[in-house]
Amino acid sequence: MDKVLAERPAHVPATRVVDFDIYNPPGDGRDFHAAWKTLHAAGVPDLVWTPHNGGHWIATRFKIINQVAADQGRFANRVNIVPKASGEKLRFIPANSDPPEHASYRMLFNSSFSPKSIRGLEDRIRGLAIKLIESFRKDGRCNFTTVYAEVFPIQIFLSMMELPNEDAPMLLRCAHKMFGATATETSVADSIQTLSNYLRPWVELRLGKGGNDLHSRLINGRINGRSLTTQEAAQVSLTALLGGLDTVSVSLGFFMLFLARNPSYRSELTANESTIPAAVEELFRRFPIAIMAREVKSDIDYDGVEMKQGEMVLWPAPLANLDDRVNERPMDIDFHRTFSEYVTFGAGAHKCVGQHLARTEMRITIEEWLKRIPEFAIEPGYEITCSGGCAASVASLPLVWDVASTRDYPLDEKKADLQVISAL
Ligand code: HEM
Repeated sequence: MDKVLAERPAHVPATRVVDFDIYNPPGDGRDFHAAWKTLHAAGVPDLVWTPHNGGHWIATRFKIINQVAADQGRFANRVNIVPKASGEKLRFIPANSDPPEHASYRMLFNSSFSPKSIRGLEDRIRGLAIKLIESFRKDGRCNFTTVYAEVFPIQIFLSMMELPNEDAPMLLRCAHKMFGATATETSVADSIQTLSNYLRPWVELRLGKGGNDLHSRLINGRINGRSLTTQEAAQVSLTALLGGLDTVSVSLGFFMLFLARNPSYRSELTANESTIPAAVEELFRRFPIAIMAREVKSDIDYDGVEMKQGEMVLWPAPLANLDDRVNERPMDIDFHRTFSEYVTFGAGAHKCVGQHLARTEMRITIEEWLKRIPEFAIEPGYEITCSGGCAASVASLPLVWDVASTRDYPLDEKKADLQVISAL
């Protein structure tokens, strides 16, 4: 993103400096997680500093990553992406808020995204998964990225927010321009402007009214006994929209890439559907996508170095989840792990509010896909590439399968699904 290298400040020891650009991680772009794992090489300290993207710290091991993400006393969320100049432009509620405001803003989201509320949406989510898979099953091929990963989570979210489905492509383009590898300060600012303009009429229509859609419930919640201002309502709307847009989409890409490459793991899940929830957890551990930051609140001594107020420190989820000090054989996938630690959804008070929705979407996709298309592979000859940035992604995932090996699950076998499908 930012090609100008920062000068090493005097308080940063030379032994802590690495050459690591999060927007262009090392390697040939084929394996995002292996690229990050290079920071676990022998001799790399647990806390390093890179001159890229304005110059910032990077925590490299689970223990420190977990502390940086969760310790609101020392590390603030005011800015949570690098370069800091881009992060300064973001004002998401609750993501960029700190104590004491954070807890009350967070309450706005909690009940709508609780496990119970998400369970109530399962039939709807399953209905859409079935509808999408059936729309291409008999073709024997699809570009998973464009016909499923980029459609499924967004349509669910837009339907929850009661926003028009046809707006999905524009919204997704904005999310890519904000969080993708090609993001620039200008593209981030442009996207925020576009999204704010898009949401303004909806906020004006719904603020202070009694609608029961997710959007109305979010912006008409009360904090500390008062209503939200129009500006707060706009920021809450933007956060909800962006949280649900890109994250599930890119995680789906990594999960399906793994399943396409690994028939024995697929067969295990097809033979025993009850393993799928544990498989989803393990895939979330192995393929985290978020590279987030915190801002140092005041000068501190930490891990044997001085950190100055205002400096940025990254807590990359891949380096925590793939740390062999906490997870045995971290690069292997094992659906039967009895213990694992991971921060795919963050840690502490800011831990992802959408995690139950995300888990449900992943589980239902795997269940409904494997029932119908148990055998599939990456299109022969296609070279997979991944993008870095604040949210990693598989650039494109063309899949192929033998139509004769697919299973016909007539839609009218599940009446509830049919009703939901026709409503979407
Ligand atoms: C696989 C999917 C997802 C992943 C990997 C993910 C990841 C994360 C992470 C790492 C954080 C913590 C950020 C921080 O501490 O600075 C977070 C926060 C958040 N996520 Fe997610 N997320 C996902 C899906 C969703 C969905 C579907 C929503 C729906 C709205 C959502 C909404 C949010 C919100 C509102 C926050 C801010 C919470 C707070 O600051 O208190 N996320 N997410």
